[in-house]
Amino acid sequence: MEKTLPLNAISGKVYLVGAGPGDPGLLTLKAKSLIGCADVVIYDALVSPPILACINPEAEQINAGKRRGRHSKLQGETNQLLIEKARAHAIVVRLKGGDPFVFGRGGEEMAALVEAGISVEVVPGITSGIAAPAYAGIPVTHRESGSSVTFVTGHEAAGKYRPRVNWRAIAQGSETIVVYMGVHNLPNIVSELQAGGLAPDTPIALIRWGTHPSQEELVATLETVVTKVQEKQFEAPAIAVIGKIVNWYGILPKNQPATPW
Ligand SMILES: C[S@@+](CC[C@H](N)C(=O)[O-])C[C@H]1O[C@@H](n2cnc3c(N)ncnc32)[C@H](O)[C@@H]1O
Repeated sequence: MEKTLPLNAISGKVYLVGAGPGDPGLLTLKAKSLIGCADVVIYDALVSPPILACINPEAEQINAGKRRGRHSKLQGETNQLLIEKARAHAIVVRLKGGDPFVFGRGGEEMAALVEAGISVEVVPGITSGIAAPAYAGIPVTHRESGSSVTFVTGHEAAGKYRPRVNWRAIAQGSETIVVYMGVHNLPNIVSELQAGGLAPDTPIALIRWGTHPSQEELVATLETVVTKVQEKQFEAPAIAVIGKIVNWYGILPKNQPATPW
């Protein structure tokens, strides 16, 4: 059912919705209800097929997906699209993998919408930096082996919108380090963390397609991980977890993967 705007309405509302890491069972009730009744859903590449299947079949569905080197829409174009759709429809959902505000550009999109006078609300999702390790049997904190955790982007590009990550300070300051988008830049990350004082035998786990039926893990040390990643041709999207918390891998049970899709 199309929910057209009342004549006196200036615009509809945009919901920045987190789709979680992939397993449809991790979608929040609020997210599921919104995608089921939206007029327009603009979604990212990492939103999983069973979650896309929950979208209102009457809704206009637009893939704004971005994967490394394959920007199907530039951020400015996506912001503009959200504004245009909100001016024509009552409920516009911007559906993002994980949580919209965790390395998801949700803050940028929200600011652009506010500036354009559009009403906007965030619906947090379960971020992959917590869920992927959890499904592999690695808690991101533990009283015995990890009282602090840092979530950091491993994407190497620093510039106008992002200062360079100070890996050496992170090595000193956090017991557990969770890296998003780190596979491509792994040699540099590993070398900087060791330069910051982490021992070469510090454990690291990479979890690829976490919570998906195809989830894969690779466990190594800072010294061996780059070679192992090359040997196994381990590719993005993956979360890296670094620190002695990784020693729980193989001790705590893994979650059953989601039903194949
Ligand atoms: C642009 S960031 C978006 C993060 C997202 N907003 C979140 O909260 O999970 C994309 C990166 O998130 C990580 N990622 C997202 N989904 C994942 C999954 N199911 N398994 C492993 N890593 C994932 C990967 O590091 C990927 O390169």
